[in-house]
Amino acid sequence: MSVAKKDYKRVTTNTLGEMKKNGDKISMLTAYDYTLAKIIDGGGIDVILVGDSASNVMAGHETTLPITLDQMIYHAASVVRGVNRALVVVDMPFGSYQGNSLEALSSAIRIMKESGGHSVKLEGGSEVIESIERILTAGIPVMGHLGLTPQSIYKFGTYTVRAKEEVEAEKLLADAKLLEKTGCFALVLEKVPAKLAQEVAESISIPVIGIGAGNGIDGQVLVLHDMLGMNHEFNPRFLRRYLNLADDIKVAVQSYVTDVKSSDFPNEKEQY
Ligand code: KIV
Repeated sequence: MSVAKKDYKRVTTNTLGEMKKNGDKISMLTAYDYTLAKIIDGGGIDVILVGDSASNVMAGHETTLPITLDQMIYHAASVVRGVNRALVVVDMPFGSYQGNSLEALSSAIRIMKESGGHSVKLEGGSEVIESIERILTAGIPVMGHLGLTPQSIYKFGTYTVRAKEEVEAEKLLADAKLLEKTGCFALVLEKVPAKLAQEVAESISIPVIGIGAGNGIDGQVLVLHDMLGMNHEFNPRFLRRYLNLADDIKVAVQSYVTDVKSSDFPNEKEQY
């Protein structure tokens, strides 16, 4: 059952701005494949992020750095095929946009052309502003990402909360305003104090979607595999689990193994 003030049909970048104006919260989850994208789209999710967290949850890497542009395009194209209503945002992987705005543009064009995604997301503020400007000139919508930016994990050294100190908080607020002014349609804030996140959301007109950034903002995003309980090793304070799928899958597999070994499966009705 929806608690939104308005029934939003197909979600576009403009719809998100409208939601912010109407005070309707934005729901966003990650997906990396056709089947789960189709299920969560049918469940009414507003935005599907083809996150570079695929590097962790799909490929088992420790960080998001190894995933390639080709791999992101493969995941994004699979997701797009399963989606009817949600806005699909595709993460630009590490190394595909930093430093050279022409390369950034050609990476973003490849994502849009080859995956059919609706927009891209990239991490950083003033350091990557030329890349964002260049991508926007091609008519490609850009979502920003500030706070904990996992592609910079080797600079930060840890995954702890960002912008607790005043200098970093001021830079984050300035970057958020810069991203708005440059033309980003929305912004993800990851792991920052709730008070700062609320201040950012109240200072800019574009929607601010948080992960570990409190409730005073315009929407929330979680990694699908985390909220479905597919990974017991990852237990950050901000995570709410809605299922314990790892346990349920294990029980189902154990039952299947027992049925096969005891010759209970297949029975007469399950054969030709
Ligand atoms: O890659 C990802 O899943 C993300 C979210 C954590 C926002 O960027």
